Amino acid sequence: MIKTVATTPYTDQKMGTAGLRRKSKIAMQPNYVENFMQSIFNVIGDLSDKTFLLGGDGRFYNSVAIQKIIKMSAANGIKKLVIGQNGFISTPAGSNIILKNKLNGGFILSASHNPGGENGDFGIKYSNETGGQIPSSVSDKIYQETLSIKEYKICDAEDVDLSQLRTFTYCGMEIEIIDPVKDYVELMQKIFDFAAIKQMFAKGFTMRFDAMNAVTGPYAVEIFEHILGASKGSVVNYIPKEDFGGLHPDPNMVYAKELVNFMFSDKAADFGAANDGDGDRNMILGKSFFVTPNDSLAILTDNFNLIPYYKNGIYGVAKSAATSTAVERVAKAHNIGYYEVPTGWKYFVNLMDSKRITFCGEESFGTGSSHIREKDGIWAVLFWLNILAATGKTVEEITTEHWQKYGRSYYIRFDFEGVESAVADKLMADLENKLPTLNGKSFGEFMVDKAAPFVYHDPVDGSTTKNGLIIRFTDGSRIVYRLSGTGSSGATIRVYLERFSAKDVLKTPLDMVAPLADIALEVAEIPERTGKHKADVIT
Ligand code: G1P
Ligand code: ZN
Repeated sequence: MIKTVATTPYTDQKMGTAGLRRKSKIAMQPNYVENFMQSIFNVIGDLSDKTFLLGGDGRFYNSVAIQKIIKMSAANGIKKLVIGQNGFISTPAGSNIILKNKLNGGFILSASHNPGGENGDFGIKYSNETGGQIPSSVSDKIYQETLSIKEYKICDAEDVDLSQLRTFTYCGMEIEIIDPVKDYVELMQKIFDFAAIKQMFAKGFTMRFDAMNAVTGPYAVEIFEHILGASKGSVVNYIPKEDFGGLHPDPNMVYAKELVNFMFSDKAADFGAANDGDGDRNMILGKSFFVTPNDSLAILTDNFNLIPYYKNGIYGVAKSAATSTAVERVAKAHNIGYYEVPTGWKYFVNLMDSKRITFCGEESFGTGSSHIREKDGIWAVLFWLNILAATGKTVEEITTEHWQKYGRSYYIRFDFEGVESAVADKLMADLENKLPTLNGKSFGEFMVDKAAPFVYHDPVDGSTTKNGLIIRFTDGSRIVYRLSGTGSSGATIRVYLERFSAKDVLKTPLDMVAPLADIALEVAEIPERTGKHKADVIT
């Protein structure tokens, strides 16, 4: 039943910040998924003793790709596949399954927060036995392999029914279909004080969780409504849909509009939250109040001792370079380890495995801990609920008190989307050359302290990664530039603006960063080079 099929390479199968992401229509080309998967299998080598996890966020084309991957896994001699029922598994739940069952890795079919559907995006993320995504050294090898692939192996058999929980043999390979929710719920129950949160709901506390028609719906209904007792209807958009019901499943102020409007209305719940397509991102809201992911990371870190799982202490904390410095001040105050890494969750994995850090996060609505090796949306929501239950304070009180204690990093991100790749690459290259000339230069009240590329030396594997350009000012303000690595076409220039204020903590962020925005556009010549005088997305 095993067939070897001749194929020709695609030249665009290089993985980005988080796996391979392409327009669905590109991924649907003949042999596109097959070439990519066979290249992974070829790079791994001997598969006969390997077990992998397979699942995804339920987006368009997943059901087709999953069958291809099952048939190819069997034909390539993989020992066993563990598959989420109906092909579903959230990214964090997947990481947990890999770690808990000591699997050799896994494939999550998701383009994360990118829209789905025939005109949306499709993606494949590849994790190894760490439960986190493979390092660039491995993804580079896989890319090389995609450029010379000549054939792939596939089992010529019927599609597999993924709807029943069972273990069976298919094409000589063992398959176990698992409940994607159960183990994850058990893990959360080990970490947080469910009894205290339950009591808070019993006293009338209200929440709204927006699953954005994506994978976290079933997890959220089970945890928040069934176990913790949030009233029925607290979880909205909870049925995963192939096209996310037309939503762009990115939990931020722009795309989670329905939730934001509700939380800023007079009907608002006490607490609001949303997750992205595959369940690793989170957004946190109070009544008419938004917590930036930068502040959220700092606040969670500052309150680790309220959470049963962490109360005996944490190793340290890490953030991506583009993320604000709010958590750095908390790390100093608690005298714990502190690291700054390039954008992308994979850079946190070595730090967690070597017990250098417990918590980590990114400005892009990602927060997590070493309980798994991916960011974790529902974990962050439960962490906040646990803080609220333990303190009896509101989201706004917790956050403003944090600013009063540590000062505030006003933070805004500008995205310039759909820029021609060549234009964006040249802009970054020219800016990098210009950086040394900026040192010591003043722009109004801001004086450049240090302008340089961000270069990371991994303390564990010794690798060096360059990602982004940073202009730091003498008052602690920063401008960070980088190109997105998760888009499916063209380039997105991201400009991250941060302004620190020790005492003045209740101003409007956009007003506070406005002078930095002017400097950022001027220095990089963004309007001249891209024709854009304003960012396309401001978050
Ligand atoms: C974006 C975010 C980054 C995150 C990644 C995956 O990558 O900026 O923080 O790790 O998505 O969720 P980017 O498009 O900027 O490369
Ligand atoms: Zn995601």
